[in-house]
Amino acid sequence: MSENVASGSAAGPLRVGVIGVGMMGADHAERLAYRIANASLVAVADPDRSRAEELAARYPGVRVLDDALELIADDGVEAVLIASPGFVHTEQLLACIKAGKHSLCEKPLTMDAESSLQVLEAERANGRPLIQVGFMRRFDPEFAAMKRLLDSGELGRLLLVHNVHRNRDVPDTFRSEMIVRDSLVHEVDVCRWLFGEEIVEITVHSPLATSRAAAGVVDPQVAVFRMAGGGMATNEVFVKCGVGYEVRCEATAELGNATVGLGSGVLVRSANRWGGTVPDDFRVRFAAAYDEEVQAWVDGSRRGEVTGPTVWDGYASTVVCEAGMESLGTGRPVKVVLS
Ligand SMILES: NC(=O)c1ccc[n+]([C@@H]2O[C@H](COP(=O)([O-])OP(=O)(O)OC[C@H]3O[C@@H](n4cnc5c(N)ncnc54)[C@H](O)[C@@H]3O)[C@@H](O)[C@H]2O)c1
Repeated sequence: MSENVASGSAAGPLRVGVIGVGMMGADHAERLAYRIANASLVAVADPDRSRAEELAARYPGVRVLDDALELIADDGVEAVLIASPGFVHTEQLLACIKAGKHSLCEKPLTMDAESSLQVLEAERANGRPLIQVGFMRRFDPEFAAMKRLLDSGELGRLLLVHNVHRNRDVPDTFRSEMIVRDSLVHEVDVCRWLFGEEIVEITVHSPLATSRAAAGVVDPQVAVFRMAGGGMATNEVFVKCGVGYEVRCEATAELGNATVGLGSGVLVRSANRWGGTVPDDFRVRFAAAYDEEVQAWVDGSRRGEVTGPTVWDGYASTVVCEAGMESLGTGRPVKVVLS
Protein backbone atom coordinates (compact mmCIF):
# COMPACT_ATOMS: atom_id res chain seq x y z
CA MET A 1 0.00 0.00 0.00
CA SER A 2 1.41 3.40 -0.87
CA GLU A 3 1.93 5.79 2.00
CA ASN A 4 -0.99 8.16 1.85
CA VAL A 5 -3.54 5.85 0.29
CA ALA A 6 -6.95 5.83 1.94
CA SER A 7 -5.44 6.75 5.24
CA GLY A 8 -7.69 9.69 5.83
CA SER A 9 -4.61 11.90 5.65
CA ALA A 10 -4.44 12.69 1.95
CA ALA A 11 -3.48 16.33 1.65
CA GLY A 12 -3.48 16.79 -2.12
CA PRO A 13 -5.97 15.72 -4.74
CA LEU A 14 -6.85 12.01 -4.73
CA ARG A 15 -4.85 10.38 -7.53
CA VAL A 16 -7.35 8.18 -9.36
CA GLY A 17 -6.79 5.42 -11.92
CA VAL A 18 -9.65 4.34 -14.19
CA ILE A 19 -9.96 0.70 -15.28
CA GLY A 20 -11.91 0.22 -18.52
CA VAL A 21 -12.36 3.25 -20.75
CA GLY A 22 -15.47 2.25 -22.68
CA MET A 23 -18.72 4.19 -22.41
CA MET A 24 -18.82 4.60 -18.62
CA GLY A 25 -15.06 4.74 -18.01
CA ALA A 26 -14.59 7.52 -20.58
CA ASP A 27 -17.48 9.46 -19.03
CA HIS A 28 -16.03 9.10 -15.51
CA ALA A 29 -12.53 9.98 -16.74
CA GLU A 30 -13.82 13.26 -18.11
CA ARG A 31 -15.59 14.18 -14.86
CA LEU A 32 -12.50 13.26 -12.83
CA ALA A 33 -10.32 15.37 -15.12
CA TYR A 34 -12.58 18.43 -15.27
CA ARG A 35 -15.43 18.49 -12.75
CA ILE A 36 -14.59 16.65 -9.55
CA ALA A 37 -12.90 18.66 -6.79
CA ASN A 38 -9.87 17.29 -4.95
CA ALA A 39 -9.21 14.53 -7.48
CA SER A 40 -6.89 14.07 -10.42
CA LEU A 41 -6.98 11.47 -13.15
CA VAL A 42 -3.50 9.95 -13.25
CA ALA A 43 -3.75 6.60 -15.07
CA VAL A 44 -5.97 4.41 -17.22
CA ALA A 45 -5.85 0.75 -18.23
CA ASP A 46 -7.84 -1.13 -20.86
CA PRO A 47 -6.99 -4.24 -22.91
CA ASP A 48 -7.89 -2.08 -25.90
CA ARG A 49 -4.66 -0.13 -25.62
CA SER A 50 -5.36 2.20 -28.50
CA ARG A 51 -8.64 3.24 -26.86
CA ALA A 52 -6.79 3.90 -23.59
CA GLU A 53 -4.08 5.91 -25.38
CA GLU A 54 -6.63 7.95 -27.28
CA LEU A 55 -8.43 8.82 -24.04
CA ALA A 56 -5.23 9.56 -22.08
CA ALA A 57 -4.07 11.94 -24.82
CA ARG A 58 -7.06 14.20 -24.05
CA TYR A 59 -5.85 14.96 -20.53
CA PRO A 60 -2.39 16.13 -19.45
CA GLY A 61 -0.25 13.77 -17.38
CA VAL A 62 -2.38 10.64 -17.65
CA ARG A 63 -0.36 7.42 -17.94
CA VAL A 64 -1.53 4.33 -19.84
CA LEU A 65 -0.76 1.14 -17.94
CA ASP A 66 -0.64 -2.33 -19.42
CA ASP A 67 -3.36 -3.92 -17.41
CA ALA A 68 -5.81 -3.43 -14.57
CA LEU A 69 -3.79 -5.28 -11.95
CA GLU A 70 -0.71 -3.22 -12.77
CA LEU A 71 -2.76 -0.03 -12.37
CA ILE A 72 -4.11 -1.20 -8.99
CA ALA A 73 -0.60 -1.99 -7.75
CA ASP A 74 0.91 1.27 -9.04
CA ASP A 75 2.23 3.51 -6.24
CA GLY A 76 1.12 6.62 -8.11
CA VAL A 77 -2.53 5.48 -8.01
CA GLU A 78 -4.28 6.09 -4.70
CA ALA A 79 -7.83 5.03 -5.58
CA VAL A 80 -9.40 3.09 -8.43
CA LEU A 81 -12.56 3.60 -10.45
CA ILE A 82 -13.60 0.25 -11.95
CA ALA A 83 -15.58 0.63 -15.18
CA SER A 84 -14.67 -2.68 -16.78
CA PRO A 85 -17.31 -5.33 -17.62
CA GLY A 86 -18.89 -7.08 -14.62
CA PHE A 87 -17.21 -10.44 -15.31
CA VAL A 88 -13.76 -9.04 -14.40
CA HIS A 89 -14.88 -7.08 -11.29
CA THR A 90 -14.15 -9.88 -8.78
CA GLU A 91 -10.44 -10.13 -9.58
CA GLN A 92 -10.05 -6.34 -9.72
CA LEU A 93 -11.96 -5.70 -6.47
CA LEU A 94 -9.95 -8.37 -4.62
CA ALA A 95 -6.74 -6.76 -5.88
CA CYS A 96 -7.91 -3.31 -4.67
CA ILE A 97 -8.70 -4.75 -1.22
CA LYS A 98 -5.29 -6.44 -1.10
CA ALA A 99 -3.60 -3.16 -2.04
CA GLY A 100 -5.68 -1.30 0.60
CA LYS A 101 -7.05 1.07 -2.05
CA HIS A 102 -10.51 2.61 -2.16
CA SER A 103 -12.53 1.68 -5.24
CA LEU A 104 -15.70 2.86 -6.88
CA CYS A 105 -17.03 -0.14 -8.79
CA GLU A 106 -19.67 0.22 -11.47
CA LYS A 107 -22.64 -2.07 -11.01
CA PRO A 108 -23.03 -5.01 -10.88
CA LEU A 109 -20.61 -5.67 -8.02
CA THR A 110 -19.92 -9.09 -9.58
CA MET A 111 -21.83 -11.50 -11.79
CA ASP A 112 -23.15 -13.91 -9.15
CA ALA A 113 -23.90 -14.26 -5.47
CA GLU A 114 -20.93 -16.51 -4.74
CA SER A 115 -18.32 -14.08 -6.10
CA SER A 116 -20.09 -11.08 -4.49
CA LEU A 117 -19.92 -12.89 -1.14
CA GLN A 118 -16.23 -13.57 -1.75
CA VAL A 119 -15.61 -9.84 -2.20
CA LEU A 120 -17.76 -8.97 0.83
CA GLU A 121 -15.81 -11.41 3.02
CA ALA A 122 -12.45 -10.19 1.69
CA GLU A 123 -13.36 -6.60 2.58
CA ARG A 124 -14.52 -7.69 6.05
CA ALA A 125 -11.27 -9.62 6.61
CA ASN A 126 -9.35 -6.53 5.58
CA GLY A 127 -10.90 -4.74 8.55
CA ARG A 128 -12.25 -1.55 6.97
CA PRO A 129 -14.65 -0.60 4.17
CA LEU A 130 -12.99 0.24 0.86
CA ILE A 131 -15.62 -0.37 -1.82
CA GLN A 132 -18.39 1.93 -3.04
CA VAL A 133 -20.79 0.45 -5.60
CA GLY A 134 -22.00 2.56 -8.54
CA PHE A 135 -25.68 2.83 -7.68
CA MET A 136 -25.79 6.45 -8.80
CA ARG A 137 -29.55 6.99 -8.44
CA ARG A 138 -28.99 7.52 -4.71
CA PHE A 139 -27.08 10.68 -5.71
CA ASP A 140 -29.62 11.98 -8.25
CA PRO A 141 -31.00 15.26 -6.84
CA GLU A 142 -34.65 14.18 -7.38
CA PHE A 143 -34.21 10.70 -5.90
CA ALA A 144 -32.20 12.12 -2.97
CA ALA A 145 -34.99 14.65 -2.26
CA MET A 146 -37.60 11.87 -2.35
CA LYS A 147 -35.55 9.81 0.09
CA ARG A 148 -35.24 12.79 2.48
CA LEU A 149 -39.00 13.39 2.25
CA LEU A 150 -39.81 9.75 3.03
CA ASP A 151 -37.30 9.64 5.87
CA SER A 152 -38.78 12.83 7.37
CA GLY A 153 -41.99 10.92 8.10
CA GLU A 154 -44.13 13.67 6.54
CA LEU A 155 -45.86 11.17 4.22
CA GLY A 156 -46.17 8.47 6.86
CA ARG A 157 -45.13 4.87 6.34
CA LEU A 158 -43.98 3.80 2.87
CA LEU A 159 -46.28 1.11 1.47
CA LEU A 160 -45.56 0.75 -2.24
CA VAL A 161 -43.01 1.80 -4.86
CA HIS A 162 -43.71 1.80 -8.62
CA ASN A 163 -40.70 2.03 -10.92
CA VAL A 164 -40.47 2.49 -14.68
CA HIS A 165 -37.08 1.99 -16.40
CA ARG A 166 -36.97 2.25 -20.19
CA ASN A 167 -34.23 2.46 -22.80
CA ARG A 168 -34.92 3.53 -26.34
CA ASP A 169 -32.96 0.58 -27.74
CA VAL A 170 -30.20 -1.91 -26.91
CA PRO A 171 -28.23 -4.34 -29.11
CA ASP A 172 -29.93 -7.68 -29.80
CA THR A 173 -27.17 -9.33 -27.72
CA PHE A 174 -28.85 -7.87 -24.60
CA ARG A 175 -30.69 -11.00 -23.42
CA SER A 176 -33.53 -11.49 -20.92
CA GLU A 177 -31.20 -12.31 -18.02
CA MET A 178 -29.17 -9.14 -18.70
CA ILE A 179 -32.36 -7.09 -18.37
CA VAL A 180 -32.56 -8.43 -14.80
CA ARG A 181 -28.86 -8.26 -13.90
CA ASP A 182 -27.89 -5.02 -15.66
CA SER A 183 -31.11 -2.95 -15.73
CA LEU A 184 -33.41 -4.14 -12.94
CA VAL A 185 -30.45 -4.09 -10.54
CA HIS A 186 -30.95 -0.30 -10.29
CA GLU A 187 -34.58 -0.77 -9.14
CA VAL A 188 -33.39 -3.42 -6.69
CA ASP A 189 -31.06 -0.89 -5.11
CA VAL A 190 -33.60 1.96 -5.20
CA CYS A 191 -36.22 -0.15 -3.39
CA ARG A 192 -33.81 -1.45 -0.73
CA TRP A 193 -32.66 2.14 -0.18
CA LEU A 194 -36.07 3.84 -0.12
CA PHE A 195 -37.63 1.22 2.18
CA GLY A 196 -34.45 0.79 4.24
CA GLU A 197 -35.17 -2.94 4.15
CA GLU A 198 -34.08 -6.04 2.30
CA ILE A 199 -36.09 -7.62 -0.53
CA VAL A 200 -37.27 -11.06 0.63
CA GLU A 201 -38.99 -12.30 -2.53
CA ILE A 202 -38.92 -11.49 -6.24
CA THR A 203 -41.21 -12.52 -9.08
CA VAL A 204 -40.39 -11.65 -12.68
CA HIS A 205 -43.38 -11.72 -15.05
CA SER A 206 -43.14 -11.95 -18.84
CA PRO A 207 -45.88 -9.83 -20.45
CA LEU A 208 -46.52 -9.54 -24.17
CA ALA A 209 -43.16 -8.86 -25.83
CA THR A 210 -42.59 -5.90 -28.12
CA SER A 211 -42.25 -6.85 -31.78
CA ARG A 212 -38.84 -5.12 -31.60
CA ALA A 213 -37.55 -7.66 -29.02
CA ALA A 214 -34.75 -9.92 -30.25
CA ALA A 215 -35.81 -13.55 -30.77
CA GLY A 216 -36.44 -15.24 -27.43
CA VAL A 217 -35.93 -12.09 -25.35
CA VAL A 218 -38.52 -11.16 -22.73
CA ASP A 219 -38.94 -7.40 -23.16
CA PRO A 220 -40.63 -5.69 -21.36
CA GLN A 221 -40.49 -7.44 -17.99
CA VAL A 222 -42.47 -6.72 -14.85
CA ALA A 223 -40.77 -7.58 -11.58
CA VAL A 224 -42.52 -7.56 -8.22
CA PHE A 225 -40.51 -7.26 -5.01
CA ARG A 226 -41.80 -8.13 -1.56
CA MET A 227 -39.96 -6.22 1.16
CA ALA A 228 -38.99 -7.58 4.59
CA GLY A 229 -41.55 -5.32 6.31
CA GLY A 230 -44.41 -6.36 3.98
CA GLY A 231 -44.24 -3.44 1.51
CA MET A 232 -44.17 -4.15 -2.21
CA ALA A 233 -42.67 -2.72 -5.39
CA THR A 234 -43.68 -3.08 -9.03
CA ASN A 235 -41.03 -2.54 -11.68
CA GLU A 236 -41.42 -2.20 -15.45
CA VAL A 237 -38.13 -2.68 -17.27
CA PHE A 238 -38.34 -2.16 -21.03
CA VAL A 239 -35.08 -1.94 -22.96
CA LYS A 240 -36.41 -1.49 -26.51
CA CYS A 241 -39.22 0.94 -25.74
CA GLY A 242 -38.46 3.00 -28.85
CA VAL A 243 -38.81 6.36 -27.10
CA GLY A 244 -35.74 7.31 -25.08
CA TYR A 245 -34.22 6.83 -21.64
CA GLU A 246 -37.00 7.17 -19.06
CA VAL A 247 -36.72 6.50 -15.34
CA ARG A 248 -39.66 7.23 -13.06
CA CYS A 249 -40.35 6.28 -9.49
CA GLU A 250 -43.53 6.78 -7.51
CA ALA A 251 -43.62 6.10 -3.78
CA THR A 252 -47.02 5.54 -2.19
CA ALA A 253 -47.11 6.22 1.53
CA GLU A 254 -49.90 6.34 4.15
CA LEU A 255 -50.32 10.13 4.05
CA GLY A 256 -49.41 10.94 0.45
CA ASN A 257 -47.22 10.01 -2.48
CA ALA A 258 -44.14 11.32 -4.26
CA THR A 259 -42.95 10.92 -7.83
CA VAL A 260 -39.60 11.58 -9.49
CA GLY A 261 -38.62 11.48 -13.16
CA LEU A 262 -41.55 13.30 -14.72
CA GLY A 263 -39.10 15.47 -16.65
CA SER A 264 -38.64 19.09 -15.79
CA GLY A 265 -36.57 20.28 -18.73
CA VAL A 266 -37.43 23.05 -21.18
CA LEU A 267 -41.00 22.94 -22.51
CA VAL A 268 -41.26 23.71 -26.21
CA ARG A 269 -44.26 24.65 -28.39
CA SER A 270 -43.78 24.10 -32.10
CA ALA A 271 -45.67 22.75 -35.13
CA ASN A 272 -48.87 22.20 -33.15
CA ARG A 273 -47.01 20.16 -30.54
CA TRP A 274 -46.29 21.05 -26.94
CA GLY A 275 -43.92 19.36 -24.56
CA GLY A 276 -40.39 18.51 -23.48
CA THR A 277 -37.83 16.00 -24.68
CA VAL A 278 -36.80 12.56 -23.48
CA PRO A 279 -33.01 12.03 -23.26
CA ASP A 280 -31.60 9.19 -25.31
CA ASP A 281 -28.97 8.16 -22.83
CA PHE A 282 -28.53 7.54 -19.11
CA ARG A 283 -25.31 9.60 -19.17
CA VAL A 284 -27.53 12.61 -19.90
CA ARG A 285 -30.43 11.74 -17.56
CA PHE A 286 -28.12 10.96 -14.64
CA ALA A 287 -25.22 13.35 -15.37
CA ALA A 288 -25.69 15.19 -12.07
CA ALA A 289 -26.06 11.91 -10.20
CA TYR A 290 -22.76 10.59 -11.59
CA ASP A 291 -21.02 13.86 -10.66
CA GLU A 292 -22.38 13.70 -7.10
CA GLU A 293 -21.57 10.01 -6.84
CA VAL A 294 -17.95 10.40 -7.88
CA GLN A 295 -17.51 13.52 -5.72
CA ALA A 296 -18.87 11.68 -2.66
CA TRP A 297 -16.52 8.78 -3.40
CA VAL A 298 -13.50 11.08 -3.73
CA ASP A 299 -14.39 12.97 -0.54
CA GLY A 300 -14.98 9.74 1.39
CA SER A 301 -11.80 8.11 0.07
CA ARG A 302 -9.72 11.12 1.10
CA ARG A 303 -11.08 10.70 4.64
CA GLY A 304 -10.58 6.92 4.50
CA GLU A 305 -14.35 6.25 4.56
CA VAL A 306 -17.05 4.74 2.35
CA THR A 307 -20.14 6.94 2.42
CA GLY A 308 -22.06 5.64 -0.62
CA PRO A 309 -23.61 2.24 -1.40
CA THR A 310 -21.47 -0.43 0.27
CA VAL A 311 -20.22 -3.84 -0.69
CA TRP A 312 -23.22 -5.24 1.26
CA ASP A 313 -25.54 -3.26 -1.04
CA GLY A 314 -23.69 -4.71 -4.02
CA TYR A 315 -23.89 -8.25 -2.60
CA ALA A 316 -27.59 -7.99 -1.67
CA SER A 317 -28.54 -6.67 -5.11
CA THR A 318 -26.62 -9.48 -6.82
CA VAL A 319 -28.48 -12.08 -4.74
CA VAL A 320 -31.86 -10.48 -5.59
CA CYS A 321 -31.00 -10.40 -9.31
CA GLU A 322 -29.87 -14.03 -9.23
CA ALA A 323 -33.25 -14.95 -7.70
CA GLY A 324 -34.90 -12.73 -10.35
CA MET A 325 -33.15 -14.62 -13.16
CA GLU A 326 -34.48 -17.87 -11.67
CA SER A 327 -38.00 -16.43 -11.48
CA LEU A 328 -37.73 -15.23 -15.10
CA GLY A 329 -37.64 -18.87 -16.19
CA THR A 330 -40.79 -19.91 -14.31
CA GLY A 331 -42.76 -16.73 -13.55
CA ARG A 332 -42.99 -17.97 -9.95
CA PRO A 333 -41.89 -16.11 -6.80
CA VAL A 334 -38.37 -16.89 -5.61
CA LYS A 335 -37.25 -16.28 -2.03
CA VAL A 336 -34.17 -14.12 -1.51
CA VAL A 337 -31.77 -15.56 1.05
CA LEU A 338 -28.84 -13.44 2.21
CA SER A 339 -25.88 -14.88 4.11
N1 LIG B 1 -24.28 3.05 -13.51
C1 LIG B 1 -24.78 2.99 -14.72
O1 LIG B 1 -25.77 3.66 -15.01
C2 LIG B 1 -24.13 2.14 -15.76
C3 LIG B 1 -24.50 2.30 -17.11
C4 LIG B 1 -23.86 1.52 -18.06
C5 LIG B 1 -22.91 0.59 -17.69
N2 LIG B 1 -22.61 0.45 -16.36
C6 LIG B 1 -21.60 -0.54 -15.92
O2 LIG B 1 -20.31 0.01 -16.22
C7 LIG B 1 -19.40 -1.06 -16.54
C8 LIG B 1 -18.81 -0.78 -17.93
O3 LIG B 1 -19.86 -0.72 -18.85
P1 LIG B 1 -19.70 0.06 -20.25
O4 LIG B 1 -21.07 0.23 -20.77
O5 LIG B 1 -18.81 1.24 -20.11
O6 LIG B 1 -18.96 -1.07 -21.12
P2 LIG B 1 -18.07 -0.86 -22.43
O7 LIG B 1 -18.09 -2.19 -23.12
O8 LIG B 1 -18.46 0.36 -23.17
O9 LIG B 1 -16.60 -0.61 -21.84
C9 LIG B 1 -15.91 -1.58 -21.10
C10 LIG B 1 -14.42 -1.33 -21.29
O10 LIG B 1 -13.71 -2.23 -20.41
C11 LIG B 1 -12.62 -2.76 -21.13
N3 LIG B 1 -12.21 -4.03 -20.51
C12 LIG B 1 -12.55 -5.29 -20.81
N4 LIG B 1 -11.89 -6.17 -20.01
C13 LIG B 1 -11.13 -5.41 -19.16
C14 LIG B 1 -10.21 -5.73 -18.14
N5 LIG B 1 -9.96 -7.00 -17.78
N6 LIG B 1 -9.58 -4.70 -17.51
C15 LIG B 1 -9.82 -3.42 -17.88
N7 LIG B 1 -10.68 -3.06 -18.84
C16 LIG B 1 -11.32 -4.05 -19.50
C17 LIG B 1 -13.14 -2.92 -22.55
O11 LIG B 1 -12.06 -3.01 -23.48
C18 LIG B 1 -13.94 -1.64 -22.72
O12 LIG B 1 -13.14 -0.56 -23.17
C19 LIG B 1 -20.23 -2.36 -16.45
O13 LIG B 1 -20.06 -2.92 -15.17
C20 LIG B 1 -21.65 -1.86 -16.64
O14 LIG B 1 -22.63 -2.71 -16.06
C21 LIG B 1 -23.18 1.21 -15.41
